[in-house]
Amino acid sequence: MFRRLIGKAMEAREFAYAPYSRFRVGAALLTKSQKIYTGCNVESASFSPTTCAERVAILKAVSEGEKDFSIIAVVGSGTDYAAPCGVCRQLLYEFAPALTVVIAKNPDEYQSFALSELLPMGFGPE
Ligand code: THU
Repeated sequence: MFRRLIGKAMEAREFAYAPYSRFRVGAALLTKSQKIYTGCNVESASFSPTTCAERVAILKAVSEGEKDFSIIAVVGSGTDYAAPCGVCRQLLYEFAPALTVVIAKNPDEYQSFALSELLPMGFGPE
């Protein structure tokens, strides 16, 4: 499943709108009902409205009624792994404190973490 999600994240990265940073990111979020929601980063000329790929994916899912998630895969476009930013970690934690976060360069090179490792003592609805 990790490989499949990484492939979907790479496909979503194709749609990244990143003319300012030129850093393209794709994400694929698996629901517990086995649906996949994808996202890419979308930037703005005024910068602050810029939205990360991970948040696009989870906002798409939640806005369609999904609230239970098991895994997110994220691919950046540098030579190193791209881990979710703090704001994304916080929003993912809201819905899925037990989420598995897979950061990948490609389907053969990835690392996986528990969201609780990436956001220790996270502040959530509980
Ligand atoms: N970005 C993401 O899409 N996800 C992250 O977790 C980190 C950063 C995007 C935002 C911006 O469009 C570009 O990467 C550079 O920061």
